[in-house]
Amino acid sequence: MKTFRVDTYNDVEAALRQNDLKQALYDEGGILMDKVLVTLHGEEHRNRRAVESQLFRRNFFRHYEKDVFPVLLDETLQQFLNSPSIDLKTLGYRIMVHLSLSFAGIDRVDGSVDEADAQHRLLIQLGQAATIGQYKGDRNAILEEISAAINEFTERFFSPSRARREALIRKFKSGEIKEESLPRDILTVLLLNEARLKLPDELLVREVAFFYLAASHTSVHTLVHSANEIFSWYAKESGKAMNLANDLVLLQRFVHESMRLHPSSPEAWRRAIAPIVLKDGTEVAAGDKVVIDLETANCDASIFGPDAALFNPFRNRVSRVSPTGLSFGGGMHVCIGMNLVAGKILKKGEMVDPDNHLFGTIVMILRELLLRGMIPDPDKKAEKIENSERDIWRVFPVVFKHINCESAK
Ligand code: HEM
Repeated sequence: MKTFRVDTYNDVEAALRQNDLKQALYDEGGILMDKVLVTLHGEEHRNRRAVESQLFRRNFFRHYEKDVFPVLLDETLQQFLNSPSIDLKTLGYRIMVHLSLSFAGIDRVDGSVDEADAQHRLLIQLGQAATIGQYKGDRNAILEEISAAINEFTERFFSPSRARREALIRKFKSGEIKEESLPRDILTVLLLNEARLKLPDELLVREVAFFYLAASHTSVHTLVHSANEIFSWYAKESGKAMNLANDLVLLQRFVHESMRLHPSSPEAWRRAIAPIVLKDGTEVAAGDKVVIDLETANCDASIFGPDAALFNPFRNRVSRVSPTGLSFGGGMHVCIGMNLVAGKILKKGEMVDPDNHLFGTIVMILRELLLRGMIPDPDKKAEKIENSERDIWRVFPVVFKHINCESAK
């Protein structure tokens, strides 16, 4: 069996839309990933996605961005932004754990720091399932850790959240409460559609855990890269960086450009389930693997211009191409959370509708942090993970000029 690579913008876009290419990135992470949305194909995938997309109906993004998100964000900053100097990656995880659990449908039990610590730890332990295929060392120890994490997640967080939702759904079905009173999250949608989906209990747990992972790691990666690009762009003018908090349209352009340059999933992997021909004419036999290089495609100079590899939020755009490039994938698996995290992605020449525009969670988080005077910590160095093929920050120390320990408590 051969492996092929596609890495130009047009070839990648076409490969993502090729229906005879099946998901292959998570083949070895089956302990968590088997039969969750991103690993399904064909009818099974269409059916599950159609059900889960119901969550995004009825103005969900607006409701989330305007009503739910600001409260959650404020709560988390009150609890964890309690020192003028902090690692942005750690703070990003604190924020995203809280947000992603709310979106996935997992309740906080006592809201304590201990509980948040456990949820953060579980996120890291469960997340290993998505990357185990690329891991070179002994996998057995990791598989055991993931299995223990799934059990802990189920007993401590999933089961009580499920029981609460089932009780509410019973009340809704008996007419005691209206549909508007049900939580708006993935677990509730899945439980409401139990008869259609027929998911075994253990798959229900893994599907919800997968949403928790999919929303968190990607967003933290994007948050830290975006902050770094903003500070680098305004290198000696930290005041101007902070002013972005008052110009959300411009801040969103910075975030979208950073998403293009630093996709949180740099590659998609697929396996051919039938003989196919790629856009460049390459013949692929059934069983062959195709590596779809989103990161390189996002720097295709024929699409993004000669400075494609550089950060430039003011670059000239090609009309049909998203400013975020292909960072959210394409075709059947295109990211379901794209508008939640990136807001409304404007077409070239499209004007912002001031009453209805959505900015996405990363802009909302950065706004709050910049308003509190966030700048890179002048005394501590930001570092990337060494010896990694991937472009990931290990720590990104920042200081907050406008908070002190007392006011943040
Ligand atoms: C900057 C943040 C994010 C990036 C860059 C990102 C990127 C991606 C990419 C590239 C895919 C396609 C994977 C493939 O084709 O194999 C994907 C799928 C997915 N993403 Fe995201 N994602 C982000 C945030 C989120 C959030 C916030 C959520 C949760 C609401 C989410 C949920 C999902 C799900 C459920 C899928 C699978 C969709 C399917 O298979 O039909 N993602 N994401």
